[in-house]
Amino acid sequence: MAFTAMLLAIAAYLVPLLFVSAMPSFEGVTTWSSISNLVPGMSHLEGLGPASTQGEAAHIPFYMSIAAPRGLPGNLTMYRNKSPPLFYIHQNQLWHYHNESTILPVNVHNSTQAAGLPLQMIAETKPGGVPGGKWRWQGTMLFYENGPQNNQGLFYSCQDVNGLNGLFLFLQCSPPPSGCTPFTIHSFSSNRMTS
Ligand SMILES: *[C@@H]1O[C@H](CO)[C@@H](O)[C@H](O)[C@H]1NC(C)=O
Ligand SMILES: *[C@@H]1O[C@H](CO)[C@@H](O)[C@H](O)[C@H]1NC(C)=O
Ligand SMILES: *[C@@H]1O[C@H](CO)[C@@H](O)[C@H](O)[C@H]1NC(C)=O
Repeated sequence: MAFTAMLLAIAAYLVPLLFVSAMPSFEGVTTWSSISNLVPGMSHLEGLGPASTQGEAAHIPFYMSIAAPRGLPGNLTMYRNKSPPLFYIHQNQLWHYHNESTILPVNVHNSTQAAGLPLQMIAETKPGGVPGGKWRWQGTMLFYENGPQNNQGLFYSCQDVNGLNGLFLFLQCSPPPSGCTPFTIHSFSSNRMTS
């Protein structure tokens, strides 16, 4: 019986906490991090790779970003953004959340129109680009797959190199394009969704 009493005491302690976290007051929602608690799975996406300083004292993270003013479509990029945008996956599609009325799909484009050359990630107003692609989490890591092929979780950030400018991926194992920096992309949010 002491055990039941203990469970009841724990439940009595937890219920108000659960209630508070499940019912955020709208006035309290003033920052990106508090908004991200409202939509499960939404988070900043951090880029890890040889260029990142993870684990170092002066670590400044790279974040997946959009090379455009807030809320507007643009090429995806990777940089040390102090105010990184929010992303989530819903029904195999990667989305950027700006506000209630502006949610942009991240599309994959065969921008170079050549076999063996990388695909480019672009945030647009409507789903489009290469058909049949699926985004998913593998642990914390972002993956893109299309049919039997996938990007192995690898993305390349390229800047004005050979006409490549933005964030790219390959569907087959390929040497990194020269001048591009490899990254894996992670959501460290504990509530990221797989649906
Ligand atoms: C959402 O953002 C867009 C682009 O910045 C803006 O035009 C629109 O008014 C915003 N909507 C809301 C509901 O805040
Ligand atoms: C976006 O990417 C396209 C195709 O790679 C490139 O031509 C264009 O210059 C890029 N736009 C910006 C603003 O970097
Ligand atoms: C990209 O376009 C090229 C040329 O049309 C084609 O060979 C290649 O299969 C396309 N890649 C994808 C992933 O659709």
